[in-house]
Order: sequence, then structure tokens, then C-alpha cells
Amino acid sequence: KQNGFYEQVEKTGVVPVVVLEKVEDAVPMANALVAGGLPAAEVTFRTAAAADCIREMAEKCPDILVGAGTVVNLDQCKRAVDAGAKFIVSPGYDMATVDWCIEHEVNIIPAAVTPTEIMAMINRDLDVTKFFPANLYGGLAGIKALASVFVGHRFMPTGGVNTDNVRDFLSCDAIIAAGGTWMVKPNLFADGDFSRVEAIAAEAAAAVRELRG
Ligand code: 3PG
Repeated sequence: KQNGFYEQVEKTGVVPVVVLEKVEDAVPMANALVAGGLPAAEVTFRTAAAADCIREMAEKCPDILVGAGTVVNLDQCKRAVDAGAKFIVSPGYDMATVDWCIEHEVNIIPAAVTPTEIMAMINRDLDVTKFFPANLYGGLAGIKALASVFVGHRFMPTGGVNTDNVRDFLSCDAIIAAGGTWMVKPNLFADGDFSRVEAIAAEAAAAVRELRG
């Protein structure tokens, strides 16, 4: 059903959460992430440029797994898929969006932080939950407590994950991948030079290799 999507997320290990204001930054951003060893981008619908950035990456960067993030309603979800998004991530659980994705076989990772919400995911046969904002909802200890009950369910923490703590998250088997913005902060590429993005992505990719082999 997932067509290897979860496996791809696990292999990448760290999913960059990308916020782009300008379409012309889409391709260099994708290239920097691929070069750094993180061939995935969750392009967030926090900016007006999101759908166009997804389209650029989907058309011009075959090596990156491009998806949409911060999708809060079905309209955004449809625009993302139309632009070429291979997956949808949401900061919460919107039933209409989840229903549509399941019906159309679109990969979706909704978010949840409570047992009741996670049960809603499990009862839709969704095996992976985004855990956001991870730092405020118990962090790694919170995930471990939930994972001990929801055996086999896996988590993608975002919110406060960074270079310093990513190894802690990656060392937990219940975590399919960690996500975040730390390698794609706007100040890193404001001058049009994406080499700093690539360097921090490479550090994260090294952490994935170190902990996941
Ligand atoms: C997200 O959309 O998942 C968050 O922006 C990630 O949080 P971060 O900015 O703390 O990495």
C-alpha cells in the first residue's frame, strides 16, 4: 500500500522541513540536500511559493523525494499532489485530508501527540505518525512511552530536533526518521550560496549512517 514510501523515509533518516519564499531557491535547495546525503524534502505550505517549489523539484530533481509539509486542509493537499508531491505531511490530523489520501493512494504522515490521536491513526492503518512539536510533548522520553504501548507504530519527531540531539532520536527504533529545519534555515542560503545547507545536511547524513549503519 505504501509502495516503499516508509522504507525511503527510514533510509533517509532525516527529513528536511523546507520553508521557501522564492521559487528560484527550489532547485538549488534540492541539489544541496541531495549532495549532502539527505535526498528528501518536506516543502511546507507556510509560504505562497510552496506548490511552485514542489513542482520545480519534482520536475527537475529526480533524485529527491519531494513532499509537502504543514498541509492543514484538503485543498492544500490536492494542490501539493497536483504539483508532484510524493507524500503529504501534516502538523495534525485532518480527517478529510487523510480520507482523500487513503482513497487516492497518496502517502500521508499526519501528526499526533496523544494516545487517543495515535489510535485514530492506527485505526486508519497508518503506521507512522509525525510527533510535533517533539520538544514540547515529551521529546524522546515521550515517544518511548508511547512506543511501548503502540508496538510497531513508528514516529517522525520534529520540532526542536537539531545537530546536537538528532543522534538521540535516531538511536530509538520506534523513530522512523527525524525531521526539522535546522539544515535549511533561511539565513544559511540568504546570499544564494547553498554550500552551508549541504554541509549541515552532510553532518545529519553522517549521524544517520553512524546510528543506522
Ligand atoms: C515542522 O514543520 O515540522 C517544524 O517546523 C519543525 O520544527 P523545527 O523548525 O524546530 O525544526
